[in-house]
Amino acid sequence: MRIAVIGLGYVGLVTAASLSDTGHHVIGYDADTEKLESLWNAEIPFFEPGLAQLVAKNVDRETLSFSSTLDTAIQDREIIFIAVGTPPGSDGSADLTNIYQVIDSLGQLLDRAVTIVIKSTVPVGTNQAIDHTLNSLLKSRGLQLSCDIVSNPEFLREGNALYDVAHPDRIVIGARSRRAFDTMRELYSPSQFTCPVLEMEPASAELSKYAANAFLASRISFVNELSRLADAVGADIEQISIALGTDDRIGPHFLRAGLGYGGSCFPKDILSLQHMFREQGIDSALTNSIQQVNSEQRNFFATKAIRHFGDAIDGSTIALWGLTFKPDTDDMREAPSLELAQLLLKAGAALRLYDPVLNAAIRERFPDDSQLEFADDMYEAVRGADAVVLVTEWIEFAEPDFSKLRGLMRTPVLFDGRNLWDPAVARSEGFTYYGVGRP
Ligand code: UDX
Repeated sequence: MRIAVIGLGYVGLVTAASLSDTGHHVIGYDADTEKLESLWNAEIPFFEPGLAQLVAKNVDRETLSFSSTLDTAIQDREIIFIAVGTPPGSDGSADLTNIYQVIDSLGQLLDRAVTIVIKSTVPVGTNQAIDHTLNSLLKSRGLQLSCDIVSNPEFLREGNALYDVAHPDRIVIGARSRRAFDTMRELYSPSQFTCPVLEMEPASAELSKYAANAFLASRISFVNELSRLADAVGADIEQISIALGTDDRIGPHFLRAGLGYGGSCFPKDILSLQHMFREQGIDSALTNSIQQVNSEQRNFFATKAIRHFGDAIDGSTIALWGLTFKPDTDDMREAPSLELAQLLLKAGAALRLYDPVLNAAIRERFPDDSQLEFADDMYEAVRGADAVVLVTEWIEFAEPDFSKLRGLMRTPVLFDGRNLWDPAVARSEGFTYYGVGRP
């Protein structure tokens, strides 16, 4: 099929590259012409494993191209994806300015009926509002045509995006006409996608996305809250998570206790969901506490370190391993490392920070403080340090050389914020070990 993707940020670029790889002909458009120049050379403005290769491959075989003019990008296209950003506004609601700018332009440019697919995460009712706005614009130009507006939310995870798009658990399609459902079924042809395709009203599709993210986040907050009780009573949250996850009705995913979730999606979508509840006058105690528990979890863990040192925290040096909000991404949005660094600095510690993808953008996110420095190597970060705090579980931290580590550190103390290490091994190597909810 002939497809345009408008907005080549994270979701848009992954969508464009993945669809072109299944044989569709895709043109990507973005208002940022410098970004387009880079994309022609398969230079990706963020870190996502495999994406640069996928872009290069499909540019080469001419299933993927880019255009700097919207008019050219949408010419002869059957489906137009919109994947522009919907950042949170000051009241937590999603800011839809970018989407409506695109809709206005499409209203001026379109001269045929096309299917418009909203990939951006948008509050319930947006699909219907877009339908009204776009089709009124077309009518005001004297055109007797009606475009189908489809909600097709994305469930991909950063760092696993290409796999998630190629192997979805389900495809959610919110539309109002048989024609639109059939177009989308042709796009996600059964020869490529064998998962269930769920047809529903646009409002249900829109809310499904928020529901999925809030539900996953609530599981994380639940185990994190429980981990504090486990800590207090001498139980092991890792074993409890297994006991929970092996119940078929519960399932094993998103039950890992740690420093809480970060990233662009969970925090933003929960704010937006809260806003929707408030708008409808519905009190959602549950949704409100997901975020609160998440934020408290950073405090809970920082307090462990601060208590360990007592007055000696002033004058101590603590190394932080892993700064991005999770492994295999360079995304720092809502990363727990930011809050932890602030809390430890405030308590008087000097910090040495390391991340496998440390770059200027990551450095800039931390305060310019004489007590905070960066290291280019994980072992360099711990030289003379009094403790290591494992913040993000990058694979290179999984099996450190404990004896080298001990040799470099002033005092051998580990704060394992992701329960990555075996406490027995760490202790047998001579470390004082603190995990999350582990005896
Ligand atoms: C998430 C959703 O998974 C995805 O479907 C949606 O489209 C976007 O938001 P993402 O933010 O990329 O994806 O990362 P994900 O792997 O889901 O992890 C989110 C956060 O939760 C990370 O900070 C991770 O460290 C944390 N997490 C995850 C836990 O703390 N415990 C867990 O058990 C799982």
